Amino acid sequence: MSTVNKSIMAYFTTSVGKKQIMALTGLALSGFLLTHLLGNFLILVGADAFNMYAHTLTSNKLIYVAEAGLALIFLTHLGLAFNLTVENKKARPQSYYTKVRTGRGATLASVSMIYTGLVILGFLVSHLMHFKFGPVYYVEMNGTQVRDIYRVVIDYFADPLQAGWYVLAMITMAFHLGHGFQSTFQSFGFNHNKYSPLIKKLGITYAILVSAGFAGLSVWGYLQSSN
Ligand code: HEM
Repeated sequence: MSTVNKSIMAYFTTSVGKKQIMALTGLALSGFLLTHLLGNFLILVGADAFNMYAHTLTSNKLIYVAEAGLALIFLTHLGLAFNLTVENKKARPQSYYTKVRTGRGATLASVSMIYTGLVILGFLVSHLMHFKFGPVYYVEMNGTQVRDIYRVVIDYFADPLQAGWYVLAMITMAFHLGHGFQSTFQSFGFNHNKYSPLIKKLGITYAILVSAGFAGLSVWGYLQSSN
């Protein structure tokens, strides 16, 4: 193995390297969330607009490449999260409670990242099962049979427990995203008297807006069915 390859391997095994990769993959996932939310807003325009949008996306062969990339990024983020949690526990076997009480800059959001992350994982599994791999109905649009994904979404949110679960999951996601954004900059050693607090506020604003957008759509879906 060449010296360059050896240094790359060494970088991936250090905890700083792992944290930086987690930060970058987290940033990429946040970018996906924003595009997903903007696309989902088409549901407010109506069934035709939403179904046509979903059909255009899923009928493009490039979607498989995008999905594989997204899965790889997500699994890397997840794998490193577990790995770093286990390593941290081994290195410092004190409880999170002690860590919060003793300060050292820890916040509720920072110590609970693994738990809020697990909720997002559970959410994602249930989300994909119900929507992507959920019921398949067809409608005809411009002479083409397209999947009536609008109906799948509206039917799902008709159940107040399911709409409520989405709202809860999105509140949890807001904590995860809010902390994740600022720690991205910390992982790269960025610490600035003026800009760090600004980055923190920006991350929290982004997290609240994106999570509120998804939660709002869930409530809107529920209200559609109860009208
Ligand atoms: C109100 C909230 C949401 C709605 C209405 C919604 C809607 C949808 C729909 C309809 C699909 C299936 C698209 C298709 O196969 O035609 C989908 C896929 C997906 N959603 Fe969501 N979504 C929501 C929130 C979220 C959140 C918060 C996340 C991430 C934490 C997420 C991650 C995904 C992923 C990863 C896929 C699969 C994408 C692909 O394979 O191309 N969604 N969503």
